[in-house]
Amino acid sequence: MAKTNRLPADARIWITGASSGIGAAVAQRLLRQGYRLVLSGRRREPLDAIAQTAPASQTLVLPLDITDLAAVQAAGTQIQQHWGALDAAVLNAGTCEYLDARQFDSTLVRHVMETNVMGLVHCIEASLPLLRQGRDPLLMAVSSAAAYCPLPRAEAYGASKAAVSHFIESLRNDLSPQGIDVSVVYPGFVETPLTERNDFAMPMQVDADTAAAHIQRGLEQHRRQVRFPGFFVALVQALGALPLSLRFWLTRKMVRS
Ligand SMILES: NC(=O)c1ccc[n+]([C@@H]2O[C@H](COP(=O)([O-])OP(=O)(O)OC[C@H]3O[C@@H](n4cnc5c(N)ncnc54)[C@H](OP(=O)(O)O)[C@@H]3O)[C@@H](O)[C@H]2O)c1
Repeated sequence: MAKTNRLPADARIWITGASSGIGAAVAQRLLRQGYRLVLSGRRREPLDAIAQTAPASQTLVLPLDITDLAAVQAAGTQIQQHWGALDAAVLNAGTCEYLDARQFDSTLVRHVMETNVMGLVHCIEASLPLLRQGRDPLLMAVSSAAAYCPLPRAEAYGASKAAVSHFIESLRNDLSPQGIDVSVVYPGFVETPLTERNDFAMPMQVDADTAAAHIQRGLEQHRRQVRFPGFFVALVQALGALPLSLRFWLTRKMVRS
């Protein structure tokens, strides 16, 4: 039986990281459904290009850097003035940089943490007052399958996404009594500019529109977790849950290959 769509037909949704990859694909899908979107990312041009595919009344383009708290707070004020509230927030903006342990680089680690963790936290702070005024509100954050298992070279990225998952899953306990639902997205490999740079095999990779379809379904059904491709994410989770000696043996094989 088809599940009910809990998003109002004219839902007001903030998407961060809407200028590229998964966020852009989600924005394109949601605009076609007629939802109203706030589109954020640092680059204005690609946001404008997406906005131009829909009537002007359906979009609000707010370019910003999520690591800049004042800019994120200013965006919250603009959303309040423009639409009065949010019915959902899809906090998707993020970065992935791999560490080379031979040239340990704390700058890289700080950049990944500030973007993926503190950038997300800034957006949550700006979203919550708006979601409290919204209809059947949902806060959604994009984590990663990498959150489930310590993988080679993913010290910074994996730790940032494990922090995101833990933070958001904890927050669910506190927001639920306030009537705000919380959803965490766990993508496996998705074909986007972020993964274009990867120099290793990416099993079961899906395209950005397939990822966006999963996220749209998760949004409309208020799913607590959205995992895709399900089998791949389950495998990574199982790898992370193996006894340490067996997990270490398998992940060391990845380093050698
Ligand atoms: N692709 C995958 O295989 C995969 C797998 C698991 C999880 N994810 C997660 O999915 C999310 C989207 O990734 P993607 O693959 O679609 O990557 P992408 O194509 O590189 O898109 C990343 C988006 O985040 C925005 N962004 C990055 N830093 C920002 C900042 N400081 N302030 C504001 N916006 C910022 C970028 O916009 P600007 O450059 O315009 O700022 C862009 O719109 C990320 O959180 C990523 O970790 C991706």
